[in-house]
Amino acid sequence: MSEPKKLYIKTYGCQMNVYDSERMAEALGGKGYVETKSPDDADMILLNTCHIREKAAEKVYSELGRFKGLKAEKPDLKIGVAGCVAQAEGQEIMRRQPLVDLVVGPQSYHRLPEMEAKTRTGEKALDTEFPEEDKFEKLKSRPKAKRGPTAFLTVQEGCDKFCAFCVVPYTRGAEVSRPADRIIREANELVERGVREITLLGQNVNAYHGAGPKGDMTLAQLIWELDKVDGLERIRFTTSHPNDMMDDLIEAHGTCSKLMPYLHLPVQAGSDKILKRMNRSHTAESYLKLIERIRAARPDIVMSGDFIVGFPEETEEDFQATLDLVEQVKYGYAYSFKYSTRPGTPAAERPQVDPAEADDRLQRLQAMITRHQREIQDSMVGREVSVLFEKAGRFDDQMVGKSEYLHAVHVTGSGAEIGDIARVKIVSSGANSLAGEVIR
Ligand code: 5AD
Ligand code: SF4
Repeated sequence: MSEPKKLYIKTYGCQMNVYDSERMAEALGGKGYVETKSPDDADMILLNTCHIREKAAEKVYSELGRFKGLKAEKPDLKIGVAGCVAQAEGQEIMRRQPLVDLVVGPQSYHRLPEMEAKTRTGEKALDTEFPEEDKFEKLKSRPKAKRGPTAFLTVQEGCDKFCAFCVVPYTRGAEVSRPADRIIREANELVERGVREITLLGQNVNAYHGAGPKGDMTLAQLIWELDKVDGLERIRFTTSHPNDMMDDLIEAHGTCSKLMPYLHLPVQAGSDKILKRMNRSHTAESYLKLIERIRAARPDIVMSGDFIVGFPEETEEDFQATLDLVEQVKYGYAYSFKYSTRPGTPAAERPQVDPAEADDRLQRLQAMITRHQREIQDSMVGREVSVLFEKAGRFDDQMVGKSEYLHAVHVTGSGAEIGDIARVKIVSSGANSLAGEVIR
């Protein structure tokens, strides 16, 4: 038997890309590829790229340039670019970097095996179309390989919101939801393979409206269907838009015990003027009211968010409104970014904020977020949480898992195994994690 070919995938960006990379590896698994952790012994290198912020394309070109030596040594090595930079740049990638054999956009991953075959004949393969079919259905997985206790499952892709700063509607295309029966089937398969927690993924996951037996389903209805899957213990979803936070989803946070008390609900800014210019279609007040309703349904929920500082024409006063909002919400986690111009998006044409000023705002916002994050993590000390163990810790007999609130928790000498869920009493709070003891 011939040696299996080796595939090296490097993944940038969001969890959607992590999921996509797994699917691509599985699809190429069907062509005899096994994954390797090093590009040096690879027969195929795939960069699964992200285009959301900062000179994404430039980083990809410089990364590609580094494979020059490898390709000279190994002429059979194939190099591919996937993800949102592939979608945005298309053919241009092959023009600028002749090392590249294959460019595949996020909607075309099911065609990867054919594309790989084409590269083996010495041709270049390019596909950045937006086909109608469900690519995940075509990406049949390798049967029944065991996997870790947590997994992502894409239920929805694309976005119709067109926030003025964002490339996603252009790179991932219009909002498309997968039919519910396929998602439920995939969830059952994951559980059979050892998964106990599933995070439902979508750029606008709560806009989910996939076909169900009696017409389109909401995300909450889908969650209730997944709630019935035996052996699945935890459900999460990300990323949500405030405008799609429907009543049934808010209610599910109070009534569905498998739905974890953690919600990533980006607001982006606290000034109504800026929110309007961002085309966000919610105000600071409507967002705060929404959080009040979510907390009424599930008082201990931990909130998470995304922020952009230095959006075009943001004044110090606008920025203060963001700080006020953060102070009111108190996020357990929050991701904040300096605005970065994305060519082709409406905000790119507007007067930009002085970069030094934007840096200063980012630092002030991050200091506040870090303080809240720390307070919320510290407030867990003395409480009982449930922990799903994901891996062994750095020390003997130590296991690491996640609480329902997504805090990392270390436990020593518990005898717990990967995949176990245990009640744990938190005894201390460290730099980035909690330590606890299993309650017997
Ligand atoms: N500049 C900075 N941050 C951005 N994001 C999206 N586009 C941009 C941009 N052009 C941030 C938003 C989004 C997160 C995934 O990335 O906060 O929620
Ligand atoms: Fe981008 Fe806005 Fe859509 Fe989120 S909701 S993916 S920020 S356009």
